Amino acid sequence: MIADHNALFSGPVNFLKSAPKLEFLPEPDAPEIAFAGRSNVGKSSLINALLGRKAIARTSVTPGRTQELNFFEVGTPPLFRIVDMPGYGYAKAPVKTVQRWRYLVNDYLRGRQVLTRTFLLIDARRGIGKVDEEMMAMLDAAAVSYAAVLTKTDKVKQTERDSVAAKVEAELRKHPAAFPGLILTSSEKGYGIEELRNAVLDAVPE
Ligand code: GTP
Ligand code: MG
Repeated sequence: MIADHNALFSGPVNFLKSAPKLEFLPEPDAPEIAFAGRSNVGKSSLINALLGRKAIARTSVTPGRTQELNFFEVGTPPLFRIVDMPGYGYAKAPVKTVQRWRYLVNDYLRGRQVLTRTFLLIDARRGIGKVDEEMMAMLDAAAVSYAAVLTKTDKVKQTERDSVAAKVEAELRKHPAAFPGLILTSSEKGYGIEELRNAVLDAVPE
């Protein structure tokens, strides 16, 4: 049991490494929890909010900022790792980049024994799109359990947020590897970060 969540998340966090290819992955000696979602959905921002840091993960207004798997270690000695994944679904991405993304992400999801859960981020303004469905199919096929997170909820009215949330939850029920329920967040306003911290810790094996 981890007694004080917030002390853990605001305690030592270390950027371990960035892996542009599978051969650069770190030794699989700690549980990993990954953050996936389309480009610009707010993965890196949410990781910063989760870890209580302003800029440990690099964010950008331009989609496609994160192109590699980025590993952050939490706790000393490290209790688990947070993995910032490259985003998908960026329409202007060159074919080669998309292909590289597919290999890297698919191989990581399928082969990584220490990956205990993936958080799938969905933009509150967009809901689940075709590219997210492809990602969910990839996660289902790799049998990686995942939980959905709505991002940027500060950008939508409450009624719109609730209707998008209901649609996402209905979609999740169709997917075998998906957890029921949805965490509503805003990195900007700090909404849902406490709940996300709990969900991350739930994914760390004892
Ligand atoms: P890639 O690395 O390109 O896949 O993007 P990403 O998913 O890591 O997105 P990133 O965290 O870089 O954020 C993209 C943009 O959205 C930035 O301009 C952020 O400031 C903005 N953003 C992220 N989270 C929020 C949020 O909760 N609210 C608002 N209003 N803006 C946000
Ligand atoms: Mg990013």
